[in-house]
Amino acid sequence: MTIAIRRARTGDVDFLVELVTDEDVEPFLGAVSAKDTDAVAEEVARSEREPHDYGRFVIEVDGERAGGLGFELANRRSRIAHLERLAVHPSFRGRRVADDAARRFQQHLVHDLGYHRLQLEIYGFNARAIAHAERVGYVREGVRRRAYRRHGDWVDGVLFSLLAEEASVAQEVLLLHDYVGAHNECVRTGDWEPLAEWFADDARLVFEGVPVGPFDGRDAIAAAYRAQPPDDQVLVFAVEEGDPLTARYGWLRDPAAVAGVTRVTSRDGRIASLVVTFDS
Ligand SMILES: CC(C)(COP(=O)(O)OP(=O)(O)OC[C@H]1O[C@@H](n2cnc3c(N)ncnc32)[C@H](O)[C@@H]1OP(=O)(O)O)[C@@H](O)C(=O)NCCC(=O)NCCS
Repeated sequence: MTIAIRRARTGDVDFLVELVTDEDVEPFLGAVSAKDTDAVAEEVARSEREPHDYGRFVIEVDGERAGGLGFELANRRSRIAHLERLAVHPSFRGRRVADDAARRFQQHLVHDLGYHRLQLEIYGFNARAIAHAERVGYVREGVRRRAYRRHGDWVDGVLFSLLAEEASVAQEVLLLHDYVGAHNECVRTGDWEPLAEWFADDARLVFEGVPVGPFDGRDAIAAAYRAQPPDDQVLVFAVEEGDPLTARYGWLRDPAAVAGVTRVTSRDGRIASLVVTFDS
């Protein structure tokens, strides 16, 4: 049995509507969530428009659609994703399809998109989903007591999370995402001083596709960012491991477009070389 996840497409809308309205799925999803064709189609369109911040995914078993899952950015600065809408079609139940799919989803969100924290909430009566969340590494954080009106009663919401360092992702990959987070904080604040500490003393910064640099040494790199600061935040879409690491990136103002790649090598938890390409 091969389990895969992929981003939903327009052609998946009917399947997703059938899934979320199934009588063994709907009672377990949030009462206020997309359940008709127009609403689900808009979610799928948003997932294509904002791939870093929002996602609707299809779970496939041996190439056949078997379920769905999704996420939404909850906090950009702290890189928190809220996970939602996990469901396996009843005809695929009993094989723990959701466990494998959830682990792949965690990898995509932490390794590729750079989220630092994944969080989710499950109704207290949903023992099946709670057992699933615990099996795939989510840590129970607490309970929102009798928070939601569901099925004629006040029900608990049980809170779970997974941190990036708990997701079996290489240190170098976590460093890259933390660096991008620090970079984006500098864009937001206009203060570029904190960026220097991310680089080794003898680090090298190279731009390809624009006539700037290269810059050698931490001080020169910090000065370069101060002199010509980027005016937009970076989004990472995918990371390929190796030496160097290669990450496809884009800019927040055009959130579905890949602007280029960044190639990173690190040493002792600092960046030793950073190459940023600008595709024309
Ligand atoms: C939660 C869900 C995605 C899990 O799907 P799955 O991976 O196919 O899970 P399975 O059907 O293989 O069941 C996994 C295990 O849970 C067990 N289980 C079934 N009902 C259970 C229950 N009421 N309480 C506890 N465990 C239960 C199964 O026996 C199985 O354990 P086993 O492998 O040791 O026998 C699926 O049940 C689902 O789509 N539920 C409806 C939607 C939903 O609840 N989504 C989560 C919203 S937060």
